[in-house]
Amino acid sequence: MKKDTFYLTTPIYYVNDLPHIGHAYTTIVADAIARHARLSGKDVYFLTGSDEHGQKIERAAQKQGLEPRQLVDRVVKRFQQLWKRLEISNDDFIRTTEPRHRKGVEDLFRAVKARGDIYLDRYRGWYCTGCESFYTVTQLVDGRCPEQGHPVEELEEESYFFRLSRYQDALLEHYQKHPEFVRPETRLNEAREFVRSGLRDLSISRTGFDWGIPVPGDDRHVLYVWFDALTNYMAAAGYGADPKRFGKLWPADLHLVGKDILRFHAVYWPAFLMSAGLPLPRTVFGHGWWLTAQGKMSKSKGKVVDPVPLIEQFGVDPLRYFLLREMTFGQDGAYSDEALIDRINSDLANDLGNLVQRTLAMVHSYLDGQVEPPDENVLPESASLGALARKSLGAYREHMDSYAFSVGLAALWDLVGGINRFLVKHEPWRKPDGKDDEARRAAVLGSAVEGLRWVALGIAASMPESAETLLELLGFPKKELQAGYDALEWGRWKEKPTRCKRAEALFPRIDKQAYFATPAAASTSGDRSPNSRRNSMDTVPDQITIQEFQRIKLRTAKITAAERVEGTDRLLKIEVDLGDGKRTIVSGIAEQYSADSLVGKMVVVVTNLKPARIRGVDSNGMLLAAGVGAEDRPIICTFEEEVPPGAPVR
Ligand code: MSP
Repeated sequence: MKKDTFYLTTPIYYVNDLPHIGHAYTTIVADAIARHARLSGKDVYFLTGSDEHGQKIERAAQKQGLEPRQLVDRVVKRFQQLWKRLEISNDDFIRTTEPRHRKGVEDLFRAVKARGDIYLDRYRGWYCTGCESFYTVTQLVDGRCPEQGHPVEELEEESYFFRLSRYQDALLEHYQKHPEFVRPETRLNEAREFVRSGLRDLSISRTGFDWGIPVPGDDRHVLYVWFDALTNYMAAAGYGADPKRFGKLWPADLHLVGKDILRFHAVYWPAFLMSAGLPLPRTVFGHGWWLTAQGKMSKSKGKVVDPVPLIEQFGVDPLRYFLLREMTFGQDGAYSDEALIDRINSDLANDLGNLVQRTLAMVHSYLDGQVEPPDENVLPESASLGALARKSLGAYREHMDSYAFSVGLAALWDLVGGINRFLVKHEPWRKPDGKDDEARRAAVLGSAVEGLRWVALGIAASMPESAETLLELLGFPKKELQAGYDALEWGRWKEKPTRCKRAEALFPRIDKQAYFATPAAASTSGDRSPNSRRNSMDTVPDQITIQEFQRIKLRTAKITAAERVEGTDRLLKIEVDLGDGKRTIVSGIAEQYSADSLVGKMVVVVTNLKPARIRGVDSNGMLLAAGVGAEDRPIICTFEEEVPPGAPVR
């Protein structure tokens, strides 16, 4: 077969609501795979995007008094901004409201129709708008959708049908011949069972609402949102528009999806493609879910983990690392702030961070900051550290190739541990006994620096920014990463000696006790809105007493100065006057308010919030704001009449 491009996709996300950690997860995983493939020398095409049509979006817009178009335009920006912050290296972002997508969907519909696989009939059954999915009465559980327990509604309407039943045998045969088509194996079994139990033809159009792509030739109907959405993978690759590009990219190598949407990808999608005479994607990987102590995350029940405060609190790379390391890919995983902090402290701050700091400190104390590559004539044991580096990076690469990220990172950490043990064994801190011993000490540190150069390559897919920082700390240009894994040769440096930078904490330790002692609102007062401060998922009681409320000190304050916190899009450093003194507050409202427009405004401030350090700035208090709309736009609280600063608010 053709194709040397590695084409991978994430699901396209519904933009009825803001992204949460589940969405961030799939996208970070996809990004790590894409970066790893590039580092392995592959030509990668990485697609993500947004699913913007359907009843779910239409209803969400109605609820907010918006046109669907307005809602999706707003919310899609939040996804795109989040991907930027999370260092997602996608090559393309497709929106299903784009003309290129619509053309792809229309072409696929025509191709399937030309095969004789479309007919008009009446649909009678149940519909779940939450999952955008049809169910028979026997599939319902307690009158709700069997997947997520969403409410369902009864439908009876004219509909175009796709002859899914025709593809039962062909699908089973495909699973048989290509077991790698659905991974992991348990999900292949699920798909196989579903198909074996009998396929009914699939309703692929709806009437009664407009927000979708009209059925070609019959605009009384809009195409079923899943028929529409799945086609994004081909439309972005040039289907129906650019045959050369399409030939280069299609079929996709990997569709990453959550287990809840496996059926659409492992059953319906290949059937549509078979019908249209198109090659099938190589692999659909169905991953598990992040669960919280209360079970499944659910927006409607207010039980979602918001990645934004986590990024602000812990940084992008530690969050990426945690998500990849903590979950066995394919299975469910438990999310908690505690697990995140533990993982950061043990693997990043203690193991890797300390090692880097110690090594650099010694390079400066003993070698004046300058290191030569390890010389095996001086220190033969350097070769065994080199062997460990090759073994551990090799194992890491193999596991990453088979999407076992957690095992892969654990294998890489064998090298981190190995370098630590190497230092303990060779004691570079021991006072050298003569010239030879001095050379030996230089070779010990040279070996440690070399080992860390290999670690930098190893973390480049999961923690791209830290990989660059690490290389630069060691004195190597960060562009060395672009040369990929195969350019690594133990002890072979393009330029030598390197000049190491001064030791700095690559991954600061999180004070867990202080974190959990902080009132929920304090830790991320730079967060996007007043109601999504922290993700500890503490149960907020429905009612509190007046005494409990009185513990929160609210006062009026006048904004006297404001400026953007460096390196952030959303954070402002605001100086407020409380009448009896000034203080600084960091607030996540920069997308809504320019710094200048705030000066002079009278606002409400929580004054007895524990101070928090946010992006290097000490924040003393929190500014109150409403969180408006699906994108949680912050609108600050001000006063109807003039009030002096410092007045109590109660
Ligand atoms: N729009 C469809 C996908 C169409 S693809 C042609 C959709 N969108 S979604 O926004 O609801 O979900 C997108 C992805 O997020 C799914 O793969 C889903 O499994 C994943 N997650 C949602 N919550 C999740 C967790 N709690 N944990 C991990 N991933 C989860 O479905």
